[in-house]
Amino acid sequence: MSKLAGKQVLLIVSGGIAAFKALELIRLLRRQACAVSCVLTRNGAEFVTPLSLQALSESKVYTDLFSLTDESEMGHIQLSRSADLLVVVPASADLLARMAAGMADDLASTVLLATDKPVLVAPAMNVRMWLHAATQANMRLLQSRGIQVVGPDEGAMACNEFGPGRMSEPAAILSAIEALLAPDAVVASRPLEGRHALVTSGPTHEPIDPVRYIANRSSGRQGHAIAAELAALGARVTLVSGPVSVPDPAGANVVRVETAAEMLHACQAALPADIAVFAAAVADWRVANAAEGKIKKQPGVAAPNLELVPNPDILATIAATGPSRPRLVVGFAAETDDLMANAQSKLIRKNADWIVANDVSPSTGIMGGEENAVHIITASGVEDWPRVPKQQVARRLAQRIADWLR
Ligand code: C5P
Repeated sequence: MSKLAGKQVLLIVSGGIAAFKALELIRLLRRQACAVSCVLTRNGAEFVTPLSLQALSESKVYTDLFSLTDESEMGHIQLSRSADLLVVVPASADLLARMAAGMADDLASTVLLATDKPVLVAPAMNVRMWLHAATQANMRLLQSRGIQVVGPDEGAMACNEFGPGRMSEPAAILSAIEALLAPDAVVASRPLEGRHALVTSGPTHEPIDPVRYIANRSSGRQGHAIAAELAALGARVTLVSGPVSVPDPAGANVVRVETAAEMLHACQAALPADIAVFAAAVADWRVANAAEGKIKKQPGVAAPNLELVPNPDILATIAATGPSRPRLVVGFAAETDDLMANAQSKLIRKNADWIVANDVSPSTGIMGGEENAVHIITASGVEDWPRVPKQQVARRLAQRIADWLR
């Protein structure tokens, strides 16, 4: 049974070259027996015709606030409330600004102001317009009011520029709609049944002697949440975890390790896997000359010198091309400087399929905190996800993985 059967979506199509993707989205929604009606703005009508929206949605298209017939058939208040979800696709910079300001000067903005239903926006605009402080401030304001956002992606744009601003693909918008309208159905359909997922999480401890070690501040919260969400979608999950104090995630088989060498060994032993997500903060170096007994401090004797040698890169080792390489390899990049450039180069250097990048500068409060704002970097572009609790990042990532494998 389709996840969206019997649901009702109101699509608001505003002006922009990406408006043509609304047609594909309608097709995907209708295939799931989801009822679709459309509001087409004046600028949107420059890119798609009411007739094509009507033909695909098999429903009336609303275009004018002051159409007396529309008002008598269905007033804008009723239109805004009869749907389960409003989806703005594409959301132009102008419409987002008018939403943020609470304006109601055409049918689209009036419906958006009058609704009591969840709203999902799929921004699409030129990269400079997206990055402009005004648009960014509008997005923060809208998100703080509970507006959901999908995209925009980064990549080549119709205006011959490159960067964030390209509207998400219809399949990604569909996943976001499913996650909002039918989260239980997504979980209940267990799309990862029969798949094996390998996840690393937490820090590693590299011994100096039997009682001392080198460590880092990773809590394991994000990796453990990912393991739980993959398991909730039906995957058999092997979680290779460094020393953490968070509880074991439900449904995962947990292998506890201390050092990077042990983590690599446990990951290799867990193969084959369909999916591998490397969320652990693996120590880059270990102590070459770790002492067998506790190093004693002695009066007059100099402090010990620790010789460090590099640890194996677990992600790069497992992602190297070969028969045991998982189909989808996802790495993380936590950076304080040049986030996107460093993450892009990690994608290539480590042969990963996706990198989940996040800014862990102290001012973000992300490291050790409850929330995360990530960017998903793939060979075809970048998706910027809004800042949400780590649990929700994990849920969306697990669903994105299930979509990709599907
Ligand atoms: O190089 P960097 O540590 O920033 O790379 C981060 C990504 O690589 C993460 O996915 C992390 O789990 C993985 N990694 C690894 N083994 C290492 C170092 C990093 O698997 N020795």
